[in-house]
Amino acid sequence: MDIRNGQIYLEDVPVTLLAQTYGTPTYVYEENRIRANFRRALSAFKKYYPNFRFFYAIKANNNLAVANILRQEGAGIDAASVNEILLAQKLGLGGDDVMFSGNFLSDEDIRQGLESGVIFNLDDISLLPRVLKYGKPERISFRVNPGYGKSDVGDFVTNAGPDAKFGVHPEQVMNAYRMARDAGIKRFGAHMMPGSCIRDPEYFKFITEILMDLIGRAAAELGISFDFIDLGGGLGIPYRHGDSYLDIDKAASLVAEVFTKKIAEYKMTPPRLMMEPARYFVGDAGYILGTVHAIKDSYRRIIGTDVSMNTLARPAMYGAYHHIYVNGREDEPRRTVGLCGQVCENTDFWVRERELPQGIDLGDIIVVENAGAYGYAMSYQYNGRLRPAEVLVNGNQHWLIRQRENIEDLVRNVTVPAHLQK
Ligand code: LLP
Repeated sequence: MDIRNGQIYLEDVPVTLLAQTYGTPTYVYEENRIRANFRRALSAFKKYYPNFRFFYAIKANNNLAVANILRQEGAGIDAASVNEILLAQKLGLGGDDVMFSGNFLSDEDIRQGLESGVIFNLDDISLLPRVLKYGKPERISFRVNPGYGKSDVGDFVTNAGPDAKFGVHPEQVMNAYRMARDAGIKRFGAHMMPGSCIRDPEYFKFITEILMDLIGRAAAELGISFDFIDLGGGLGIPYRHGDSYLDIDKAASLVAEVFTKKIAEYKMTPPRLMMEPARYFVGDAGYILGTVHAIKDSYRRIIGTDVSMNTLARPAMYGAYHHIYVNGREDEPRRTVGLCGQVCENTDFWVRERELPQGIDLGDIIVVENAGAYGYAMSYQYNGRLRPAEVLVNGNQHWLIRQRENIEDLVRNVTVPAHLQK
């Protein structure tokens, strides 16, 4: 993003042109920013541990155009569901290019997951006998709950620690691998998800050490070796201006240091190191454009826009903060206002108080930052407010990569029984 003579550009395309061409609300992604984010992270980790690969957690942004950028850069895919395995297949990826980390799976999920031939990562010890019913996979990986979690998003985004529903309890890890070994499995992997949006490099070291002690003990006691260890996602980005960036080089060097130390300590054959971030790659490369449609002076001034809780769910869901720019007005003095969307819920009043340019007016374009991850992917159709369009920009080029929904999308799967049609 860039502001030139007061006008906001995404790469080299003015937001006014994007709003005119595609309407609002519209998600816009900067291709070069995604590539730069990926390359910065990859070169950091490869520098300290060359046998390294990223798997993109496609849940954060499942547009195939976006996912193809990351595939071109060399990423595999982290799939959270069978449908995400199918999305990966649409990218031409399968087998060891895809990591399937579902949770609380049905038998049908397990069957399809195994049949797809991707890396199967078990969220619990109780899954092992259910998996074995369908045959003996060549390799088994467990998602470990390391006992700690951390989140910069909100209380509900906890994916490890005592309050998380995910992963094998630390005290059950040894047993899980023992059961798998005794069932005749020969190859192993391990996985964790350390937390969400973490900007402290030391935390990655701390949590990697805990995982490696659990895995190292299992390797030593059970005489098994690990093909790979996947440290999950969680590489953070700053949402608030003034918050620090994650020092990715430091994170990579600390992780690699403790990883290699533990490999030596437990005399393990060095496994492939994997991570599966998403926010770090796509979060700050995406924006949602909106238009100011109404302004009300009530208990305070409320700016009404078409960026609603159904198009950007994070603020209403987690109290998450997103910076907002107003095109053409960033140089103006500020006044405190509220800002909301158009849905009939007061959680849609998603900015209760913010200093915004005082002249903000009908027809103005707002640009909401850091919307590339968990933005469109979490959008829904409440109030008959449909999902927005998605656009990719690269230099001065732009492409529609997902059409805005229309009324047909709202009724697509609905059937009205005959007696109700009279
Ligand atoms: N791997 C696993 C197993 C995950 O559960 C997740 C995210 C990731 C990787 C990618 O994590 P990342 O690098 O993007 O932090 N909706 C919330 C975030 C939920 C995260 C879910 N799991 C938000 O809007 O902040």
